[in-house]
Amino acid sequence: MTYENIVFNKEAAIASLYINRPQALNALNKDTLNEIRSAVMTAQTDPEIQVLIISGTGEKAFVAGADIAYMQNLTPVEGRAFGALGQEVFRSIETMEKPVIAAVNGFALGGGCELAMCCDFRIAVPQAVFGQPEVGLGIIPGFGGTQRLPRLVGAGMAKQLIYTGANIDAQEALRIGLVNQVVPAATLIDYSFTLAQKIIRHAPQAVRYAKLAINEGMQTDIDRAMTLEADLFGLCFSTHDQTEGMTAFLEKRSPNYTGQ
Ligand code: CAA
Repeated sequence: MTYENIVFNKEAAIASLYINRPQALNALNKDTLNEIRSAVMTAQTDPEIQVLIISGTGEKAFVAGADIAYMQNLTPVEGRAFGALGQEVFRSIETMEKPVIAAVNGFALGGGCELAMCCDFRIAVPQAVFGQPEVGLGIIPGFGGTQRLPRLVGAGMAKQLIYTGANIDAQEALRIGLVNQVVPAATLIDYSFTLAQKIIRHAPQAVRYAKLAINEGMQTDIDRAMTLEADLFGLCFSTHDQTEGMTAFLEKRSPNYTGQ
């Protein structure tokens, strides 16, 4: 597929997806969401790709939200469908069987903050700005923000951010746990690739099961979550990579993982 609103690259095991609508600060319209969905599907199904990095082109914006010009005259039915599309695309990122890193290079507002939140974790530049300003436009966060923000930063902080529509800077986002790290803008992509490289040194199936255990476990009670962890822990022992990882350790050599 040829993309007009995103840039999708693959460098061996690491894929990168840049939202690319600089004229609208990378705001998300329907076409952009559909292109993201397609690229995520490629990243999911390409056996060579092990990690996906999501960022925005330019120095100003990661994503400045859903496209307000597109949404201005939507009917309630169309508005619901647009929200459902964003939710579905972001959920496909969240449930992708490979880690996804958000490299937040600037404004991450509304749908941009929501896109960052559906990734496994977020690395930001000092100039990044986060917020859910939707109530200032007469709507609520509609691409998962009312659900993921409280899960990440707690209900009280999420309510404060969403009700006030206030923007916060990268340091405040770091303080409340919305981002993992703040790194200089010039190093953001290299640093994200370094993290991705660290991940792909390990057994791909184990990383996949760890993501599944965390994501599914967070949605259920602790006893069921422990059962899930035990099941997935057991499943690891059916993989070649578990045998290889432990044998390599005992033989004092580097493991040679195959993803099997
Ligand atoms: N949708 C459509 N266009 C947008 C946009 C958006 N979310 N954000 C910025 N743009 C456009 C602007 O309209 C402007 O276009 P023109 O040059 O044609 O006028 C261009 O991008 C540059 O933006 P600004 O001139 O506003 O740039 P700035 O530096 O003065 O301000 C900003 C930057 C503070 C991010 C400001 O653009 C802004 O507040 N944007 C909107 C942020 C927002 O409210 N996001 C939430 C959207 S609702 C949502 O996301 C719902 C949901 O949950 C699904």
